[in-house]
Amino acid sequence: MKFFADTANLAQILEVHALGVLDGVTTNPSLMAKEGIKGEENILAHYALLAREVPGDISAEVISTDYEGILREGRKLAKIADNIVVKVPMIKEGIKAISTFKNEGIRTNCTLIFSAGQALIAAKAGASYVSPFIGRIDDISGEGVQLIAQIVNIFSNFGMETEVLAASVRHTLHIVQCAELGADVVTCPPSVILQLINHPLTDIGLEKFLADHKKLNG
Ligand code: G3P
Repeated sequence: MKFFADTANLAQILEVHALGVLDGVTTNPSLMAKEGIKGEENILAHYALLAREVPGDISAEVISTDYEGILREGRKLAKIADNIVVKVPMIKEGIKAISTFKNEGIRTNCTLIFSAGQALIAAKAGASYVSPFIGRIDDISGEGVQLIAQIVNIFSNFGMETEVLAASVRHTLHIVQCAELGADVVTCPPSVILQLINHPLTDIGLEKFLADHKKLNG
């Protein structure tokens, strides 16, 4: 399973990349705004920076919601680097744009997916990734990981090439559940990826090993 960092913060991205476990990055307009990156030139420059620093795919989201606008923005984003994936919202115009991008050889990530039907039509249109938002489903008392199970099952029934990118991943249990269910990718805040390392019994065990060694060896 691939690990993507769901942030536009380069320092946090590099912290995970330094461990050798990072496969890509996803961003969205909220995450770009959080880093204070504004204005088309700065936004494009930041994507170029991320695309240089991270060897994997970088999802860069369009702001337009009309077909022509999505195409215009997406083509510009795709030109930045080969590892830029154009993130397109799950709307009718978005699906139409995803089909066009597919014909042009531009890779896409269909975002804001909350049902298996949405994932299916995005895959039919030729999306490279679909992004079901599992944490936001949990937020409204649903079970986000159930959606991952459904989509993984449907895509495997038909050998669909679209990758299931579990998004809105909030904690390590989400990551482990997505891995058990066969999601191709999880994207989550770098802090959540780093939390996978921690276990209190590891800390206690290491402390004991080191103390026993010190007793004999000083
Ligand atoms: O990748 C989508 C993600 O950024 C949404 O996460 O935590 O805002 O629901 P969240």
